[in-house]
Amino acid sequence: MKILITGAAGFIGSNFMYYEMQKHPQDDYYALDKLTYAGNIKNLDGLKDHDNFHFLKMDIGDTEGIDALFAKERFDIVINFAAETHVDRSIADPSLFLKTNILGTANLMDAALKYGVKRYHQVSTDEVYGDLPLGRKDLFFTEESPIRTSSPYSASKASADLLVMAYMRTYGLPASISRCSNNYGPYQFPEKFIPLIINNARHDRPLPIYGTGVNVRDWLYVDDHSEAIDLIVRKGKEGSLYNVGGHNEKTNIEIAKIVLKELGKSEALITFVADRKGHDLRYAIDPRKITTELGWKPKTKFADGIKKTIKWYIDNSKWLDDVVSGEYQNYYARMYEGR
Ligand code: NAD
Ligand code: DAU
Repeated sequence: MKILITGAAGFIGSNFMYYEMQKHPQDDYYALDKLTYAGNIKNLDGLKDHDNFHFLKMDIGDTEGIDALFAKERFDIVINFAAETHVDRSIADPSLFLKTNILGTANLMDAALKYGVKRYHQVSTDEVYGDLPLGRKDLFFTEESPIRTSSPYSASKASADLLVMAYMRTYGLPASISRCSNNYGPYQFPEKFIPLIINNARHDRPLPIYGTGVNVRDWLYVDDHSEAIDLIVRKGKEGSLYNVGGHNEKTNIEIAKIVLKELGKSEALITFVADRKGHDLRYAIDPRKITTELGWKPKTKFADGIKKTIKWYIDNSKWLDDVVSGEYQNYYARMYEGR
């Protein structure tokens, strides 16, 4: 089978590439990425010598380029990870989020329809459900929870999901959607909470905690997300939607303390800063559908996954040093100085 993976040089996309090529070495993989600030071709270094790996530097919104690519390669499966993904950047400037996440998705689906792709998979997020209140441990996001977005990022992802559903119903696009909770693991760009605090802690710099640090996220090791997508694409029903998460809720302050302890650093580095606008309180996934239908369960316990992740960033300090050089410094100053 020929599989197109977009956003393949980003955090989850690159982890998925390693996972999938190891699990299904008989298939042919086309990794497509625009290589924005978040995409890093070096993330795919371990795959570049494989005969069944091909890299394409391209924008999912490039109508002619995408059409020509699909006409030439006749993909069987398309998995769309490509997106603008950082909530804080979407608050500062929503426009690119609308262009990439909504129009880019429509462009890929047009080509998928025109050239008879057998399965189009949209990698979505639990953020489309908005948030749950703190102190209501009985409430979870199910596939039936209403769309109730908070940030321009989540609104753009929800818009893309609605378009996927419209293409399924109106044009018969064979598609599926997954909505996963927060991922952690290697190759995550250090604008996101866990790699950002690991990077700051290793340099004894303050860890910026938004508000009072009580917001809750439901953390999943990235390989468990990859396994879920692999199962959905190959075994999940056409037209289906699956929530993905492993009942691993932690407050931000708990995460900061775990990271500091693992690195042997002082909790005095914890620094409370002004809250994110519209900051979602709690995410929590009910994964019963994917567990019952596809037998998916997370394999990595948080206590092991976070140790493995911290070790990866420390062992790969050159990777971290490279991605925080240059433009990252301006970004960090814009977001955090005087906050
Ligand atoms: P990321 O920002 O690390 O990677 C995104 C990748 O997309 C980058 O390599 C970037 O270069 C590429 N890209 C951006 N615009 C593009 C365009 N126009 N054309 C082609 N490539 C483009 O993000 P991530 O965390 O790996 O997220 C991947 C997907 O998973 C996203 O769709 C995101 O919404 C979803 N998701 C992420 C999480 C999470 O916790 N990180 C959880 C659930 C869902
Ligand atoms: O739930 C899935 C989503 O998870 C994905 O769709 C998004 O692409 C991904 O970025 C992530 O969104 P979050 O906003 O939850 O992730 P982030 O790492 O930005 O923040 C996690 C929590 O940590 C959140 O409550 C905000 C807080 N935070 C974040 C940063 C960057 C801080 O307290 N300080 C920080 O400096």
